[in-house]
Amino acid sequence: GRKSTVSRLLQYLYQFLPHSSSPSLPGPPSLFLLGNMLDLTNEHLPIHLTNLAQRYGSIYRLKCGNTTMVVLNSSDVIREALVKKWSDFAGRPHSYMGNIVSGGGYSISLGNYSEEWRAHRRLVHSALQRCCQQSLHSVIERQALHLRQVLMGYGGSAADLSEDFTVAASNVITTLAFGKEYDKSSVELQRLHSCLNEIVALWGSAWISALDSFPLLRKLPSPPFARLLKEVARRDDIISTLLNNYKSQDKKSDSTITSSILQGLDKCRSKTHGVLLTDTHVHMAMVDLLIGGTETTAAWLNWTVAFLLHRPEVQCKVYNEMCKVLEGRYPKYSDRHRLPVLCAVINEVLRLRPVAPLAVPHRAIRDSSIAGYFIPRNTVIIPNLFGAHHDPAVWSDPYHFKPERFLEGGGGSMRALLPFGGGARLCLGESVAKMELFLFTAYLLRDFQFIPPENEASLPNLRGVASVVLKVKSYKVIACPRPVA
Ligand code: HEM
Repeated sequence: GRKSTVSRLLQYLYQFLPHSSSPSLPGPPSLFLLGNMLDLTNEHLPIHLTNLAQRYGSIYRLKCGNTTMVVLNSSDVIREALVKKWSDFAGRPHSYMGNIVSGGGYSISLGNYSEEWRAHRRLVHSALQRCCQQSLHSVIERQALHLRQVLMGYGGSAADLSEDFTVAASNVITTLAFGKEYDKSSVELQRLHSCLNEIVALWGSAWISALDSFPLLRKLPSPPFARLLKEVARRDDIISTLLNNYKSQDKKSDSTITSSILQGLDKCRSKTHGVLLTDTHVHMAMVDLLIGGTETTAAWLNWTVAFLLHRPEVQCKVYNEMCKVLEGRYPKYSDRHRLPVLCAVINEVLRLRPVAPLAVPHRAIRDSSIAGYFIPRNTVIIPNLFGAHHDPAVWSDPYHFKPERFLEGGGGSMRALLPFGGGARLCLGESVAKMELFLFTAYLLRDFQFIPPENEASLPNLRGVASVVLKVKSYKVIACPRPVA
């Protein structure tokens, strides 16, 4: 009643008081929408935020409409917030659209920090770990060989491989989840593919973000919003069907993530206390894994080929290293310690083009501080991973592709490499992704030499297009089969 009104009033007034113990955060003048800023600069958002860090430092505030965000641009400040003070910054911003896409906040990626969320994440994480140990390696090997067949099928003609990479990455997840992969006969998975693509594209669109910031706009008719609702409903339909089929086949003892999650769910239910997780949690975990695990891995593969087209001598080095170490056989993940050049290339692509360049926004769940600045509860935090990976204080020649920096003393530091974020919200698929990046790249570079079509003018543009995922502009490449060893 009256007490809470008074305390709300005090809280309201408190935000206008100067916090004398801490300096106020620097930052550029307020903006109406982030899009305005980009129109002026002609750069994508991660580059623009990184440029602002040169002027305002590794932590600054950005006022946009009625939201204030704090952007973190170095590995030190990102680690302080996400790892050291993880329990202060493990929240996600409240978002009208996020709520719609995550089925009311039930997804791991967009769900708010709570006991229920922790139990959900723990359940899916242990299912993933179990799967990683049991079947992931063979699932990826199978998809890598399948990808090899697809590239062979181009017969040396130039092709855009992005769709093939997407199918390969998506198949890894659908095999892990349901024991199913995409082929011409699997209409369900084809529909799921196109539907998730559409949701991610709409999610990144300016109109949809504007609906989040300006509630009044929601009263107007909006075709993109109507489409988003339709696609979300379609997604939920397909996933429910897949899950119901799965359950009716009584496959609870196979080695898929779904079976492991369902078993975990039963255990959770049988406990007298603790959080109650339901089928909705299983459903949304599938959405998280499919969305989190497809475009990211595919975009990364596409970047790697793009960089290697620019630097054929690096491609040669990786190939020679594999010939020497593997003597003709295909690699296993356990060979990675004996293939330092390949690992250096993987890390350098993760550094230069972290495919989730701004991670996912975090929210302060209580008053806290970063780098000595006071950060009030509910502040939105943007970890600019792209910026941290281009910090000249850590990386020598930060804008150049130099895999050798990860071999002895090449100017950089593994500690400052944060492509998967860190702390409570660390990418849930990190171990899956690492094995995929290693095996797919090793298989591809063992069997093919990638060369640009015709002449130098057709080399891919390396600047990138950023929405939620940082992608390379589409390009064509020739995959020349290597002579059989
Ligand atoms: C979250 C990067 C692959 C599932 C994230 C975040 C980043 C990231 C930066 C946000 C962390 C934060 O909020 O601070 C990447 C990269 C990948 C990759 C660079 C590949 C190159 C995958 C894969 C999966 C996956 C293969 C699934 C198998 C997720 C999920 C989240 C997430 C579920 C949300 C975690 C949470 O909010 O607690 N990823 N990811 N990711 N990723 Fe990944």
